[in-house]
Amino acid sequence: MTRRRKIYEGKAKILYEGPEPGTLVQHFKDDATAFNNKKHDLIEGKGVLNNRISEYVFTRLGEIGIPTHFLKRVNMREQLVKEVEIIPIEVMIRNVAAGSLAKRLGIEEGTPLPRSIIEFAYKSDELDDPLVTEEHITAFAWATPQEIDDMMAMSLRINDFLSGLFLGIGIKLIDFKIEFGRHFEGEMMRVILADEISPDSCRLWDTATNEKLDKDRFRRDLGGLMDAYQEVARRLGILMENEDQTPRTGPVLVK
Ligand SMILES: Nc1ncnc2c1ncn2[C@@H]1O[C@H](COP(=O)(O)OP(=O)(O)OP(=O)(O)O)[C@@H](O)[C@H]1O
Ligand SMILES: [Mg+2]
Repeated sequence: MTRRRKIYEGKAKILYEGPEPGTLVQHFKDDATAFNNKKHDLIEGKGVLNNRISEYVFTRLGEIGIPTHFLKRVNMREQLVKEVEIIPIEVMIRNVAAGSLAKRLGIEEGTPLPRSIIEFAYKSDELDDPLVTEEHITAFAWATPQEIDDMMAMSLRINDFLSGLFLGIGIKLIDFKIEFGRHFEGEMMRVILADEISPDSCRLWDTATNEKLDKDRFRRDLGGLMDAYQEVARRLGILMENEDQTPRTGPVLVK
């Protein structure tokens, strides 16, 4: 047995050195955190679901030509990804007012936005990921104007595609957060989609009932997080085949 080299341990995932140079293993933990780790809990099985949901979404995005870090899922909690240099910007895409935008601008949660809005936050736990503009991003050289353009163009395509994908299974994509990284292939470098897309990083509301099927269940102490994530996986047609997918008792959120 050899010990894998841990590259980074974050709040929800661990990155290990991958089997080939330029690859990493992304391990999904069961930790749920919110408000920059001020609220923390373990939710058994969450990592397994996020691994599967993110695999599914990244695979579909790859099929429409979005370059992503995803290579393959290796087990229930882990996926092999391309190593990138993460651009220290969180890109948020919003279709309906919710969360911090609703609060900041005094718009009632659930109000459709006149058009999709892209926001940027600087990835910094100490600073609570502050909102920044393109001016800040280029002035501090976090990303070049070209990289910002690439991220915005990909974000809008991802939004259009995922909005349709979720709508088809009775879910409204209210907003979501994505991260990009620089991938180096010899002399070439390109910006690709990295990290994860899961109910941890999206707001997903049931179309018929507006029931929340995402991490807001945890942030707002609504309970039923696992049932909600399970429901998203089920509607996406993701079949869970091993012991982690024990039949769940308790109330089923959405019929
Ligand atoms: N392909 C990749 N190559 C390198 N780093 C990646 C890749 N995909 C994701 N990451 C980074 O791995 C980490 C994943 O861990 P996690 O999401 O738990 O972090 P976090 O606690 O949210 O912290 P952070 O504020 O850094 O995102 C993140 O820092 C993310 O930016
Ligand atoms: Mg993260």
